[in-house]
Amino acid sequence: MSTKFSFSVSAVDGQARTGVISTPRGEIRTPAFMPVGTAATVKAMMPESVRATGADILLGNTYHLMLRPGADRIERLGGLHKFMNWPRPILTDSGGFQVMSLSGLRKLTEEGVTFSSHVDGSKHFLSPETSMEIQRKLGSDIVMCFDECPALPATEAEVATSMRMSMRWAQRSRDAFGDRPGHALFGIQQGGVTRELREESAEALRAIGFDGYAIGGLAVGEGQEAMFGVLDYAPGFLPEDKPRYLMGVGKPDDIVGAVVRGVDMMDCVLPSRSGRTGQAWTRRGQVNIKNARHADDPRPLDEHCSCPACSQYSRAYLHHVFRSGEMISGMLLTWHNLHYFQELMAGLRGAIAAGRLGAFVAEFESQRAEGDI
Ligand code: GUN
Ligand code: ZN
Repeated sequence: MSTKFSFSVSAVDGQARTGVISTPRGEIRTPAFMPVGTAATVKAMMPESVRATGADILLGNTYHLMLRPGADRIERLGGLHKFMNWPRPILTDSGGFQVMSLSGLRKLTEEGVTFSSHVDGSKHFLSPETSMEIQRKLGSDIVMCFDECPALPATEAEVATSMRMSMRWAQRSRDAFGDRPGHALFGIQQGGVTRELREESAEALRAIGFDGYAIGGLAVGEGQEAMFGVLDYAPGFLPEDKPRYLMGVGKPDDIVGAVVRGVDMMDCVLPSRSGRTGQAWTRRGQVNIKNARHADDPRPLDEHCSCPACSQYSRAYLHHVFRSGEMISGMLLTWHNLHYFQELMAGLRGAIAAGRLGAFVAEFESQRAEGDI
Protein backbone atom coordinates (compact mmCIF):
# COMPACT_ATOMS: atom_id res chain seq x y z
CA MET A 1 0.00 0.00 0.00
CA SER A 2 1.10 3.54 -0.70
CA THR A 3 2.31 5.57 2.27
CA LYS A 4 1.38 8.84 0.66
CA PHE A 5 -1.82 10.69 -0.05
CA SER A 6 -2.50 11.14 -3.75
CA PHE A 7 -5.31 11.70 -6.24
CA SER A 8 -5.43 10.45 -9.79
CA VAL A 9 -8.18 11.14 -12.31
CA SER A 10 -8.75 8.27 -14.72
CA ALA A 11 -11.54 9.71 -16.89
CA VAL A 12 -13.46 12.91 -17.44
CA ASP A 13 -16.87 13.51 -19.03
CA GLY A 14 -17.68 17.20 -19.37
CA GLN A 15 -16.81 18.74 -16.00
CA ALA A 16 -17.26 15.40 -14.20
CA ARG A 17 -14.28 13.27 -13.22
CA THR A 18 -13.72 9.77 -11.90
CA GLY A 19 -10.57 8.54 -10.22
CA VAL A 20 -9.01 7.30 -7.01
CA ILE A 21 -7.69 8.96 -3.86
CA SER A 22 -4.95 6.74 -2.42
CA THR A 23 -4.23 6.82 1.30
CA PRO A 24 -2.25 4.51 3.60
CA ARG A 25 -5.60 3.22 4.91
CA GLY A 26 -6.99 2.34 1.51
CA GLU A 27 -8.39 3.75 -1.69
CA ILE A 28 -11.34 6.09 -2.10
CA ARG A 29 -13.10 5.74 -5.44
CA THR A 30 -14.38 9.09 -6.73
CA PRO A 31 -16.94 10.53 -7.03
CA ALA A 32 -17.35 9.32 -3.43
CA PHE A 33 -20.21 9.54 -0.98
CA MET A 34 -19.12 9.55 2.68
CA PRO A 35 -21.62 8.26 5.25
CA VAL A 36 -21.64 10.33 8.43
CA GLY A 37 -20.39 8.70 11.62
CA THR A 38 -20.67 11.76 13.84
CA ALA A 39 -20.27 10.13 17.26
CA ALA A 40 -17.90 7.31 16.20
CA THR A 41 -20.76 5.28 14.72
CA VAL A 42 -22.89 5.37 11.60
CA LYS A 43 -26.10 5.12 13.60
CA ALA A 44 -27.88 1.74 13.41
CA MET A 45 -25.07 0.14 11.34
CA MET A 46 -22.15 -2.15 12.12
CA PRO A 47 -18.97 -0.87 10.40
CA GLU A 48 -18.67 -4.05 8.30
CA SER A 49 -22.22 -3.44 7.09
CA VAL A 50 -21.36 0.15 6.14
CA ARG A 51 -18.45 -1.28 4.15
CA ALA A 52 -20.78 -3.83 2.52
CA THR A 53 -22.89 -0.97 1.14
CA GLY A 54 -19.79 0.16 -0.78
CA ALA A 55 -18.42 2.98 1.41
CA ASP A 56 -14.67 3.63 1.14
CA ILE A 57 -14.53 6.42 3.73
CA LEU A 58 -16.55 7.77 6.67
CA LEU A 59 -16.91 11.24 8.12
CA GLY A 60 -16.39 11.97 11.81
CA ASN A 61 -16.91 15.18 13.77
CA THR A 62 -14.38 17.07 15.86
CA TYR A 63 -17.15 18.91 17.70
CA HIS A 64 -19.01 15.82 18.94
CA LEU A 65 -15.95 13.70 19.70
CA MET A 66 -14.11 16.43 21.64
CA LEU A 67 -17.15 16.77 23.92
CA ARG A 68 -17.82 13.05 24.23
CA PRO A 69 -15.81 10.86 24.79
CA GLY A 70 -12.95 13.41 24.38
CA ALA A 71 -10.00 13.47 21.97
CA ASP A 72 -7.42 12.55 24.62
CA ARG A 73 -9.39 9.45 25.57
CA ILE A 74 -9.71 8.34 21.93
CA GLU A 75 -5.97 8.92 21.44
CA ARG A 76 -5.14 6.85 24.55
CA LEU A 77 -7.40 4.07 23.24
CA GLY A 78 -5.46 3.89 19.98
CA GLY A 79 -7.25 6.43 17.76
CA LEU A 80 -10.66 6.72 16.16
CA HIS A 81 -10.21 3.92 13.60
CA LYS A 82 -9.50 1.35 16.30
CA PHE A 83 -12.04 2.82 18.73
CA MET A 84 -14.93 2.48 16.25
CA ASN A 85 -13.59 -0.56 14.39
CA TRP A 86 -13.38 1.15 10.98
CA PRO A 87 -9.88 0.52 9.58
CA ARG A 88 -10.42 2.47 6.36
CA PRO A 89 -10.05 6.21 5.70
CA ILE A 90 -11.82 8.74 7.93
CA LEU A 91 -12.36 12.42 7.17
CA THR A 92 -13.09 14.68 10.12
CA ASP A 93 -14.88 17.99 9.96
CA SER A 94 -13.18 20.70 11.96
CA GLY A 95 -15.92 21.75 14.37
CA GLY A 96 -16.70 25.37 13.50
CA PHE A 97 -19.76 24.53 11.44
CA GLN A 98 -21.19 22.27 14.17
CA VAL A 99 -20.49 24.83 16.92
CA MET A 100 -22.62 27.32 15.03
CA SER A 101 -25.52 24.92 14.50
CA LEU A 102 -25.49 22.87 17.74
CA SER A 103 -23.82 24.54 20.69
CA GLY A 104 -25.40 26.87 23.21
CA LEU A 105 -23.88 30.25 24.04
CA ARG A 106 -20.92 31.07 21.83
CA LYS A 107 -18.48 33.91 21.30
CA LEU A 108 -16.60 34.29 18.05
CA THR A 109 -13.37 36.29 17.77
CA GLU A 110 -10.38 36.35 15.43
CA GLU A 111 -8.68 33.92 17.80
CA GLY A 112 -11.44 31.28 17.67
CA VAL A 113 -14.79 30.39 19.18
CA THR A 114 -15.71 29.83 22.82
CA PHE A 115 -18.90 27.85 23.25
CA SER A 116 -20.92 25.78 25.68
CA SER A 117 -21.48 22.08 25.04
CA HIS A 118 -24.92 20.92 23.87
CA VAL A 119 -24.31 17.79 26.00
CA ASP A 120 -23.68 19.25 29.47
CA GLY A 121 -23.25 23.01 29.11
CA SER A 122 -19.49 22.89 29.84
CA LYS A 123 -17.28 25.60 28.28
CA HIS A 124 -14.88 24.86 25.42
CA PHE A 125 -12.64 26.69 22.95
CA LEU A 126 -11.96 25.84 19.33
CA SER A 127 -9.48 27.58 17.07
CA PRO A 128 -7.50 26.54 14.01
CA GLU A 129 -4.73 25.34 16.33
CA THR A 130 -6.93 23.37 18.76
CA SER A 131 -8.97 21.86 15.91
CA MET A 132 -5.77 20.60 14.20
CA GLU A 133 -4.60 19.16 17.53
CA ILE A 134 -7.89 17.34 18.15
CA GLN A 135 -8.06 15.94 14.59
CA ARG A 136 -4.45 14.71 15.01
CA LYS A 137 -5.36 12.95 18.28
CA LEU A 138 -8.35 11.31 16.58
CA GLY A 139 -5.98 10.02 13.87
CA SER A 140 -8.06 11.46 11.02
CA ASP A 141 -6.78 10.72 7.51
CA ILE A 142 -8.34 13.80 5.93
CA VAL A 143 -8.31 16.82 8.23
CA MET A 144 -10.48 19.84 7.47
CA CYS A 145 -9.38 23.43 8.05
CA PHE A 146 -11.13 25.31 10.83
CA ASP A 147 -13.58 27.70 9.15
CA GLU A 148 -16.67 29.73 9.78
CA CYS A 149 -19.83 29.26 7.76
CA PRO A 150 -22.02 32.33 8.21
CA ALA A 151 -25.63 31.64 9.16
CA LEU A 152 -28.22 32.72 6.61
CA PRO A 153 -29.62 35.25 6.07
CA ALA A 154 -26.37 37.21 5.79
CA THR A 155 -25.49 40.30 3.76
CA GLU A 156 -22.80 40.09 1.11
CA ALA A 157 -20.58 42.27 3.32
CA GLU A 158 -21.02 39.86 6.25
CA VAL A 159 -20.23 36.89 3.99
CA ALA A 160 -17.10 38.65 2.71
CA THR A 161 -15.85 39.51 6.22
CA SER A 162 -16.49 35.95 7.41
CA MET A 163 -14.82 34.41 4.33
CA ARG A 164 -11.69 36.54 4.82
CA MET A 165 -11.42 35.42 8.44
CA SER A 166 -11.84 31.79 7.32
CA MET A 167 -8.96 32.33 4.89
CA ARG A 168 -6.74 33.65 7.72
CA TRP A 169 -7.84 30.61 9.71
CA ALA A 170 -6.93 28.40 6.72
CA GLN A 171 -3.35 29.72 6.88
CA ARG A 172 -3.27 29.11 10.66
CA SER A 173 -4.68 25.60 10.10
CA ARG A 174 -1.97 24.91 7.51
CA ASP A 175 0.77 26.16 9.90
CA ALA A 176 -0.57 24.15 12.85
CA PHE A 177 -1.10 20.97 10.80
CA GLY A 178 2.56 20.91 9.77
CA ASP A 179 3.97 18.09 7.66
CA ARG A 180 2.28 14.74 8.30
CA PRO A 181 3.03 12.20 5.54
CA GLY A 182 0.03 10.03 4.73
CA HIS A 183 -2.39 12.54 6.23
CA ALA A 184 -4.13 15.21 4.17
CA LEU A 185 -5.31 18.72 4.98
CA PHE A 186 -8.18 20.19 2.96
CA GLY A 187 -8.94 23.91 2.64
CA ILE A 188 -12.56 25.09 2.62
CA GLN A 189 -13.79 27.66 0.13
CA GLN A 190 -16.43 30.09 1.42
CA GLY A 191 -18.06 33.15 -0.17
CA GLY A 192 -21.78 32.35 -0.18
CA VAL A 193 -23.48 32.78 -3.54
CA THR A 194 -21.22 35.59 -4.77
CA ARG A 195 -18.94 34.64 -7.66
CA GLU A 196 -16.24 37.23 -6.86
CA LEU A 197 -16.05 36.05 -3.23
CA ARG A 198 -15.83 32.39 -4.28
CA GLU A 199 -12.98 33.32 -6.62
CA GLU A 200 -11.17 35.38 -3.97
CA SER A 201 -11.51 32.51 -1.48
CA ALA A 202 -10.19 29.96 -3.98
CA GLU A 203 -7.19 32.22 -4.76
CA ALA A 204 -6.37 32.51 -1.05
CA LEU A 205 -6.55 28.73 -0.58
CA ARG A 206 -4.46 28.00 -3.69
CA ALA A 207 -1.77 30.40 -2.48
CA ILE A 208 -1.54 28.46 0.81
CA GLY A 209 -1.65 25.04 -0.88
CA PHE A 210 -3.73 22.06 0.27
CA ASP A 211 -4.08 18.35 -0.50
CA GLY A 212 -7.72 18.88 -1.43
CA TYR A 213 -10.29 21.66 -1.56
CA ALA A 214 -13.78 21.72 -0.10
CA ILE A 215 -16.67 23.88 -1.15
CA GLY A 216 -18.33 25.01 2.08
CA GLY A 217 -21.20 27.32 2.86
CA LEU A 218 -23.68 25.59 0.53
CA ALA A 219 -26.80 23.50 1.28
CA VAL A 220 -27.52 25.90 4.12
CA GLY A 221 -30.94 26.97 2.92
CA GLU A 222 -30.14 28.75 -0.36
CA GLY A 223 -32.04 26.16 -2.43
CA GLN A 224 -30.89 23.80 -5.18
CA GLU A 225 -31.04 26.34 -8.00
CA ALA A 226 -28.78 28.79 -6.15
CA MET A 227 -26.44 25.96 -5.12
CA PHE A 228 -26.13 24.68 -8.70
CA GLY A 229 -25.59 28.29 -9.78
CA VAL A 230 -22.51 28.45 -7.53
CA LEU A 231 -21.38 24.97 -8.61
CA ASP A 232 -21.46 26.12 -12.23
CA TYR A 233 -18.28 28.14 -11.49
CA ALA A 234 -16.89 27.37 -8.00
CA PRO A 235 -15.19 24.00 -8.77
CA GLY A 236 -13.44 25.66 -11.73
CA PHE A 237 -11.64 28.08 -9.39
CA LEU A 238 -10.05 25.13 -7.54
CA PRO A 239 -6.99 23.14 -8.72
CA GLU A 240 -7.90 20.48 -11.27
CA ASP A 241 -5.41 17.94 -9.92
CA LYS A 242 -6.76 17.87 -6.35
CA PRO A 243 -10.01 16.39 -4.96
CA ARG A 244 -12.99 18.74 -4.64
CA TYR A 245 -15.33 18.07 -1.76
CA LEU A 246 -18.83 19.54 -1.48
CA MET A 247 -19.68 19.61 2.23
CA GLY A 248 -23.05 18.45 3.57
CA VAL A 249 -24.70 17.42 0.28
CA GLY A 250 -27.17 15.99 -0.28
CA LYS A 251 -30.28 14.44 -1.78
CA PRO A 252 -29.71 12.08 -4.73
CA ASP A 253 -30.56 14.78 -7.29
CA ASP A 254 -28.19 17.23 -5.54
CA ILE A 255 -25.44 14.61 -5.73
CA VAL A 256 -25.97 13.96 -9.44
CA GLY A 257 -26.00 17.70 -10.19
CA ALA A 258 -22.84 18.25 -8.15
CA VAL A 259 -20.95 15.41 -9.84
CA VAL A 260 -21.95 16.71 -13.28
CA ARG A 261 -20.43 20.06 -12.21
CA GLY A 262 -17.07 18.58 -11.17
CA VAL A 263 -17.42 17.56 -7.50
CA ASP A 264 -15.44 14.48 -6.36
CA MET A 265 -16.57 13.93 -2.76
CA MET A 266 -19.70 14.57 -0.69
CA ASP A 267 -21.12 13.71 2.71
CA CYS A 268 -24.58 13.92 4.18
CA VAL A 269 -26.57 12.59 7.14
CA LEU A 270 -29.59 12.19 4.88
CA PRO A 271 -29.48 8.43 4.10
CA SER A 272 -28.79 7.45 7.70
CA ARG A 273 -30.95 10.05 9.45
CA SER A 274 -33.97 9.63 7.19
CA GLY A 275 -33.67 5.84 7.49
CA ARG A 276 -34.45 6.22 11.17
CA THR A 277 -37.55 8.31 10.48
CA GLY A 278 -39.08 5.89 7.98
CA GLN A 279 -37.91 7.62 4.79
CA ALA A 280 -36.44 5.44 2.04
CA TRP A 281 -34.66 6.69 -1.08
CA THR A 282 -35.00 4.62 -4.23
CA ARG A 283 -34.50 4.97 -7.99
CA ARG A 284 -38.10 6.12 -8.06
CA GLY A 285 -37.67 8.86 -5.48
CA GLN A 286 -38.72 9.01 -1.84
CA VAL A 287 -40.85 6.37 -0.15
CA ASN A 288 -42.43 6.98 3.24
CA ILE A 289 -42.67 3.50 4.77
CA LYS A 290 -45.08 4.64 7.50
CA ASN A 291 -47.73 5.30 4.87
CA ALA A 292 -50.73 2.94 5.31
CA ARG A 293 -50.57 1.93 1.63
CA HIS A 294 -47.63 -0.37 2.49
CA ALA A 295 -49.42 -2.33 5.27
CA ASP A 296 -50.48 -5.27 3.05
CA ASP A 297 -47.85 -4.92 0.33
CA PRO A 298 -45.82 -8.15 -0.11
CA ARG A 299 -43.42 -6.52 -2.60
CA PRO A 300 -39.92 -5.35 -1.68
CA LEU A 301 -39.13 -1.66 -1.30
CA ASP A 302 -37.25 -1.83 -4.61
CA GLU A 303 -37.26 -5.06 -6.64
CA HIS A 304 -33.95 -4.08 -8.28
CA CYS A 305 -32.10 -3.45 -4.99
CA SER A 306 -29.88 -6.22 -3.58
CA CYS A 307 -29.66 -4.84 -0.01
CA PRO A 308 -30.94 -6.99 2.91
CA ALA A 309 -34.03 -4.82 3.40
CA CYS A 310 -35.11 -5.33 -0.20
CA SER A 311 -33.94 -8.91 -0.78
CA GLN A 312 -35.30 -10.40 2.46
CA TYR A 313 -38.29 -8.31 3.58
CA SER A 314 -41.59 -6.97 2.27
CA ARG A 315 -42.89 -3.43 2.41
CA ALA A 316 -45.53 -4.78 4.80
CA TYR A 317 -42.82 -5.95 7.22
CA LEU A 318 -40.84 -2.68 6.96
CA HIS A 319 -44.09 -0.78 7.61
CA HIS A 320 -44.93 -2.98 10.59
CA VAL A 321 -41.54 -2.68 12.31
CA PHE A 322 -41.49 1.08 11.79
CA ARG A 323 -45.01 1.48 13.23
CA SER A 324 -44.04 -0.76 16.16
CA GLY A 325 -40.91 1.26 16.93
CA GLU A 326 -38.67 -1.78 16.49
CA MET A 327 -34.93 -1.13 16.20
CA ILE A 328 -34.64 -3.28 13.10
CA SER A 329 -36.67 -0.64 11.27
CA GLY A 330 -33.87 1.95 11.49
CA MET A 331 -31.28 -0.74 10.77
CA LEU A 332 -32.93 -1.99 7.57
CA LEU A 333 -33.90 1.40 6.16
CA THR A 334 -30.46 2.89 6.90
CA TRP A 335 -28.83 -0.08 5.18
CA HIS A 336 -31.09 0.30 2.17
CA ASN A 337 -30.51 4.07 1.95
CA LEU A 338 -26.73 3.78 2.22
CA HIS A 339 -26.78 0.96 -0.35
CA TYR A 340 -28.84 3.10 -2.74
CA PHE A 341 -26.54 6.12 -2.33
CA GLN A 342 -23.43 3.99 -2.91
CA GLU A 343 -24.99 2.30 -5.92
CA LEU A 344 -25.76 5.74 -7.32
CA MET A 345 -22.08 6.72 -6.87
CA ALA A 346 -20.93 3.49 -8.55
CA GLY A 347 -23.31 4.22 -11.43
CA LEU A 348 -21.94 7.76 -11.78
CA ARG A 349 -18.34 6.50 -11.72
CA GLY A 350 -19.07 3.85 -14.35
CA ALA A 351 -20.91 6.34 -16.56
CA ILE A 352 -18.08 8.90 -16.40
CA ALA A 353 -15.53 6.16 -17.18
CA ALA A 354 -17.59 5.09 -20.20
CA GLY A 355 -18.23 8.66 -21.40
CA ARG A 356 -22.01 8.24 -21.06
CA LEU A 357 -22.80 10.47 -18.10
CA GLY A 358 -25.45 12.36 -20.09
CA ALA A 359 -27.40 9.15 -20.75
CA PHE A 360 -27.01 8.08 -17.12
CA VAL A 361 -28.44 11.38 -15.85
CA ALA A 362 -31.34 11.17 -18.32
CA GLU A 363 -32.17 7.66 -17.07
CA PHE A 364 -31.85 8.80 -13.42
CA GLU A 365 -34.33 11.60 -14.06
CA SER A 366 -36.83 9.51 -15.99
CA GLN A 367 -36.97 6.83 -13.28
CA ARG A 368 -37.59 9.47 -10.63
CA ALA A 369 -40.31 11.04 -12.79
CA GLU A 370 -42.19 7.72 -12.77
CA GLY A 371 -42.48 7.92 -8.99
CA ASP A 372 -42.97 5.07 -6.50
CA ILE A 373 -45.64 2.63 -7.70
N1 GUN B 1 -20.46 21.14 6.57
C1 GUN B 1 -21.36 21.67 5.70
N2 GUN B 1 -20.97 22.91 5.30
C2 GUN B 1 -19.81 23.17 5.94
C3 GUN B 1 -18.92 24.30 5.93
O1 GUN B 1 -19.13 25.32 5.26
N3 GUN B 1 -17.80 24.20 6.72
C4 GUN B 1 -17.55 23.08 7.48
N4 GUN B 1 -16.45 23.06 8.23
N5 GUN B 1 -18.37 22.03 7.49
C5 GUN B 1 -19.48 22.08 6.74
ZN1 ZN C 1 -32.64 -1.97 -0.76
